[in-house]
Amino acid sequence: MHIPDELAERLRRANHVGVLTGAGTSAESGVPTFRDALTGLWAQYDPQELATPEAFARQPQLVWDWYAWRRELVARATPNPGHFALAELESRAPQFTLITQNVDGLHQRAGSRNVIELHGNLARVKCSRDDRVVASWPETGERPPHCPDCGALLRPDVVWFGENLPPAALSQAVRAARTADFFLTIGTSGIVQPAASLPLEAAQAGALTVEINPDATPLSRWADYALRGPSGVLLPALLAAAWPELNSA
Ligand code: OAD
Repeated sequence: MHIPDELAERLRRANHVGVLTGAGTSAESGVPTFRDALTGLWAQYDPQELATPEAFARQPQLVWDWYAWRRELVARATPNPGHFALAELESRAPQFTLITQNVDGLHQRAGSRNVIELHGNLARVKCSRDDRVVASWPETGERPPHCPDCGALLRPDVVWFGENLPPAALSQAVRAARTADFFLTIGTSGIVQPAASLPLEAAQAGALTVEINPDATPLSRWADYALRGPSGVLLPALLAAAWPELNSA
């Protein structure tokens, strides 16, 4: 796909690049998205059944096992060219903030450093009573295991439906959206709040906004440019258009 010259030029000259990513960014790594009809995890499982505090209270083992399955799937996956292009972009932009809704850690594995995780991380476990992150626990074979400090059930350190986002991460993300002069929205269906309002914040604060997604979303109307296609192809193409010397590297 041809990247418009003006877009490439604006990226090259940007002072603060802000990025919001969603599950589509990891699709080409083989990590199923949440809402795509055929491959989405939740085509097989009803998210309302699994990703809620109520479900955990009702069926803790089912919820624990589902996250364990996702954790293994992600551990076997590797970052794709889109993740690597974002890490490269971070090394080129004067200021760069990557806000992700993903809990898979693939951005960090690709080399991204300034990453704000809005929805937590699958790899971490916390106490369901006081939210303290727990690094290890006695292996008794129980699923879920129990907190070594207080005995409550352990749970994944991810945000479930109906729960608040980590306040520090959210305020950092809002600040980044408001101060970015170039804002990329990649691989998100744009329907889960408050993440979905970040591109709007950026647009209202005057950033040039770009969406990368094979499909249109409710966020598309806020985008100055909509690049339609997979991020694993379009992000490297965008970088190569902004920094042509990358082509010969
Ligand atoms: P979704 O599954 O809702 O949306 C995935 C988006 O990625 C869709 O818009 C697809 O069109 C797009 N997509 C698919 N393949 C792509 C590709 N190769 N390149 C680029 N885009 C592609 O995932 P999210 O928007 O991330 O929250 O979902 C938001 C939140 O909903 C998740 O973080 C999760 C879920 O509830 C929590 O768990 C709290």
